[in-house]
Amino acid sequence: MIIAKTIEEVRAQVRAWKQEGLTVGLVPTMGYLHEGHASLVDKAVSQCDRVVASDFVNPTQFGPNEDLEAYPRDFDRDCALLEEHGCHMVFYPEVSEMYAPDAATYVEILSDMPKQLCGQTRPIHFRGVCTVVSKLFNIVTPDKAFFGQKDAQQLAIIRRMVRDLSYGIEIVGCPIVREPDGLAKSSRNTYLNPQERQAALVLSQAVRLGQTMVEEGETDARRVVEAMTAHIQAEPLARIDYVSAVDGVTMLPVETIQGSVLVAMAVYIGKTRLIDNFIVEKGE
Ligand code: PAJ
Repeated sequence: MIIAKTIEEVRAQVRAWKQEGLTVGLVPTMGYLHEGHASLVDKAVSQCDRVVASDFVNPTQFGPNEDLEAYPRDFDRDCALLEEHGCHMVFYPEVSEMYAPDAATYVEILSDMPKQLCGQTRPIHFRGVCTVVSKLFNIVTPDKAFFGQKDAQQLAIIRRMVRDLSYGIEIVGCPIVREPDGLAKSSRNTYLNPQERQAALVLSQAVRLGQTMVEEGETDARRVVEAMTAHIQAEPLARIDYVSAVDGVTMLPVETIQGSVLVAMAVYIGKTRLIDNFIVEKGE
């Protein structure tokens, strides 16, 4: 596996691959990789001739009081996992390689979409995500890029950005990978102490509760959200940021579960903010 630290190295290698007529897949990550990330690499390897993963803790998507400094890192372990899953190149830039000290150009969706859900408490987050992902698209120029459904709002926003800016890159969404007991895999799970790790199960339990209600015919979004909320509130270590049912494309709140609906939550377990969600595709 090639380890590229500069934009120029990535461009030269991708150019060579394209001259050979090979297709290129991109898996953007912030490192500290787990099986969720690996599932994206697996899918990319199955659909593209060459796969590039990026491993970059992107400062522009962290708010001033967020965990940028504390964000876990282990590049050697990341490389081992990527190599094992057949990744061809990892792009591992320094912050200075990605952002000039006076960088002032951002990519931002100006609709209400990034203000919903996680955007309520993380106002600059999706601007940072869109900016770094567009830079990665410009650097790697992939045919396809792979994102997890775990970050459902991020996936919807990237799809919108790609449409609005005519990127011509196919965005492939990948299902949430979970621990055996249901907790969605996340680099941030490492922050949880044993008691919090147990308490964190309320998220996936609430997902299953909501899914069951919908499967059994509940169409009132408020009732689903209320039942999930009550379940989470019963856990003393949990503090809800939001539990919401929104349109699967626009991310705006819905009252009725019909068409494509995203039911998503963010919950603090102690100081750690975790997210989980499920998607309903219901015919009219
Ligand atoms: P990161 O949190 O490292 O996640 C990288 C990718 O892995 C995202 O597309 C995310 O949805 C996916 N992922 C994480 N956990 C997953 C799980 N349990 N199952 C399936 N997929 C999972 O998301 C980011 O980084 C950043 O915002 C990034 C897009 C790289 C921009 O900086």
